[in-house]
Amino acid sequence: MAEFDVIVIGGGPGGYVCAIRCAQLGLKTACVEGRGALGGTCLNVGCIPSKALLNATHHLHEVHENFEKMGLMGAKVKVDWAKMQDYKQDVITGNTKGIEFLFKKNKVTYLQGWGSIPAAGQVKVGDEIHSAKNIVIATGSEPASLPGIEIDEDTIVTSTGALSLPKIPKSMVVIGAGVIGLEMGSVYARLGTEVTVVEYLDAITPGMDGEVAKSFQKILAKQGLKFVLGAAVQGVTKGKGKNTVAYKLRKDDSEHTLDAEVVLVATGRKPYTAGLGLEAVGVEMLPRGQVKTNDHWATNVAGIYAIGDAIVGPMLAHKAEDEGMAVAEVIAGKHGHVNYDVIPGVIYTTPEVASVGKTEEVLKQEGRAYKVGKFSFMGNGRAKAVFQADGFVKMIVDAGTDRILGCHIIGPGAGDMIHEICVAMEFGASAQDVALTCHAHPTYSEAVREAALACGDGAIHA
Ligand code: NAI
Repeated sequence: MAEFDVIVIGGGPGGYVCAIRCAQLGLKTACVEGRGALGGTCLNVGCIPSKALLNATHHLHEVHENFEKMGLMGAKVKVDWAKMQDYKQDVITGNTKGIEFLFKKNKVTYLQGWGSIPAAGQVKVGDEIHSAKNIVIATGSEPASLPGIEIDEDTIVTSTGALSLPKIPKSMVVIGAGVIGLEMGSVYARLGTEVTVVEYLDAITPGMDGEVAKSFQKILAKQGLKFVLGAAVQGVTKGKGKNTVAYKLRKDDSEHTLDAEVVLVATGRKPYTAGLGLEAVGVEMLPRGQVKTNDHWATNVAGIYAIGDAIVGPMLAHKAEDEGMAVAEVIAGKHGHVNYDVIPGVIYTTPEVASVGKTEEVLKQEGRAYKVGKFSFMGNGRAKAVFQADGFVKMIVDAGTDRILGCHIIGPGAGDMIHEICVAMEFGASAQDVALTCHAHPTYSEAVREAALACGDGAIHA
């Protein structure tokens, strides 16, 4: 029986980051992971493999749409799906092995196997029981399906199956116009699959700034994705060589069906805590399955903490990472903090969509006086040069103080550019602070500055 200061259960972005930070703070740390590779959903069957496929298919799209315009002529590019899958696997392996290296470098003990908590202060992995002064639950989440749908990860798939389909399907119905549905829908649409997205709400990407969501939908439709909005999926029936998706339109309750070779169910994720034995130890849970924690990520049981997708909040790798670092600080007797008001969200389609802070819709609900500064990428020379002038930057500031309250970007490099605004918001900056900061020309970031200028006396290139 080994003794640790901290045992982190789960080796995803929340768990492995937490373990590394604990070790860096001088705590004897172990991290338990059962899937045979570190990195969790994100590195193995989520963020990273989807980015590999998005990258490959983005280049394919460029070949088809833009190469000739730039004078790049030549033989038609063919897709070798098996090879694309190998590329994706290489990317996964390189990243997961990288974390094993970081564990060695930081002296984190990697306990391979599924962990459970037989009693406070103990973690069982396989037949061995280890003792831990502190336990951090970082077990993440799993796809949530719908009643009437039986996932087989063959032709009725979650994001996991969608990343590794045996062949490129002719047709696909995506249930749910959220992040997963649109990223994976984009991948297959670019590969030639006829993709139809069926969404319960009347707009795509719930929670996103309404104007950005509308523009995003138009751009995706131009790329070939079809949308059925306001449609509640009732179930999926498996047939010979096809699946039938039944849905009801919410406006008139009329019933419809759609056939597709593959159905991707992307209707959200739920916390994954099965098998940990939390009930027996007396850890309090919330009605929606999350572990209940206080402001310091502590559960009601002394010495047991929880972070990431297993607790409340957006299910994002970077939110989990931040909590992992913060809880490590708390355990080490320092001050751990996460600013939940400044957590960016990114969708890695082309164009990318990124946002941070409040949307206009939320500010209206709050009755707060605000101003909007908008700038279209049509006025950005760099974006025009690379055929990516669709989209805009929308900055929202307090009407009285000019303090930045939120920023929403649809356009090239949005996922990287948003961090300029995250830093500005952390410093309580005004739009004028951003507007007075020199931005290199020609960059996409100039559009952010122009949006900031538009909050004041006006943008230059509008
Ligand atoms: P989501 O919550 O983003 O979207 C699910 C969508 O399904 C919603 O629009 C919802 O209205 C719709 N829906 C629910 N029931 C339905 C029904 N019966 N019929 C039709 N539509 C229905 O969930 P998603 O895309 O599955 O992603 C899961 C989690 O993973 C999210 O928290 C997301 O933030 C995270 N994620 C983040 C990524 C990123 O940051 N780039 C990438 C992939 C996932």
